[in-house]
Amino acid sequence: MVKVDTFIEKAIAQIKEEVGDEKVVIALSGGVDSSVCAALAKQAIGENLICIYVNTGLMRKEETKRITELFGSGKSDGSGGLLVIDASDEFLDALEGEADPEAKRKIVGERFIRIFEREAKKTQATCLLQGTIYPDCIESEGGIKSHHNVGGMPSAIAFSKIIEPLRELYKDEVREIAAALSLPDEIVNRMPFPGPGLSVRVVGPVTREAIEVVREANAIVEEVLIPKYQPWQCLAALIGRGTGVKGDNRIFGWVVAVRAVYSRDGMTADPVQISYEDLAEIEKRITSTIPQVSRVCYDLSPKPPATIEYE
Ligand code: XMP
Repeated sequence: MVKVDTFIEKAIAQIKEEVGDEKVVIALSGGVDSSVCAALAKQAIGENLICIYVNTGLMRKEETKRITELFGSGKSDGSGGLLVIDASDEFLDALEGEADPEAKRKIVGERFIRIFEREAKKTQATCLLQGTIYPDCIESEGGIKSHHNVGGMPSAIAFSKIIEPLRELYKDEVREIAAALSLPDEIVNRMPFPGPGLSVRVVGPVTREAIEVVREANAIVEEVLIPKYQPWQCLAALIGRGTGVKGDNRIFGWVVAVRAVYSRDGMTADPVQISYEDLAEIEKRITSTIPQVSRVCYDLSPKPPATIEYE
């Protein structure tokens, strides 16, 4: 990448030129990519930027609260703040029972775009700003998976322009830019979280119950591992069912896989060497607080051959 300052200057100038006097909507997830995009666009076009956060019902625990606190709730048109849209029923209804990973991504991608089109119409925005980064494009184009903001996009889009200022950058480069833009540390170092959210952390059919279970398990994994190991990414996924005994009952409960990796850019990854005590703590907290879980496993696979997410 060219020097950070040069990149920032150029990106701001380019956004100004591409957008002119039009209004732009951005999907702000609170992750580093979309936050950097929003910060660049704010400097480029000010009040013509409309930031939208969609609660898909597939977000991490407390995410919506955290984002609202970080970015502030906006005016009703989203200018100068954040427009928060609760679309969880819309997403969860559309995904109910869907087991195919690609179909999940397409459903989520499609819903996102439709919501943005709807909001854009209300606010008369014609451009969509996205925090797509280079690895998203390679993996979508290479047929590995369609990232919801790339290959998962529906073909008929009602925006005159899609602007992707980070399209040529890797994650670590985006973090450098975030730091140079003085974004809060919490955002600069925010772990990646996939656009299709927890739907791709339930292997097999999505149900509201499974999403709730994986959300709770994921929160425990993050709470135990982030302060001690600062992994590049860590997560919990539901990978199947296994028999267990809880109290006096046998259950055919969920099997939770715990994954934690170090990586530079997500293209390759190595498992974190977690101490046995910390693994035992995760297992105990998950199985004792989530009644539907019967087992917890730790995933030792590097990438390749295993991807970071399970789907
Ligand atoms: P994989 O699982 O491909 O993940 O090794 C590499 C990085 O990409 C994230 N990821 C996604 N991000 N939409 C996204 O926005 C997706 O569909 C998606 N799938 C994976 C993953 O969390 C990891 O950081």
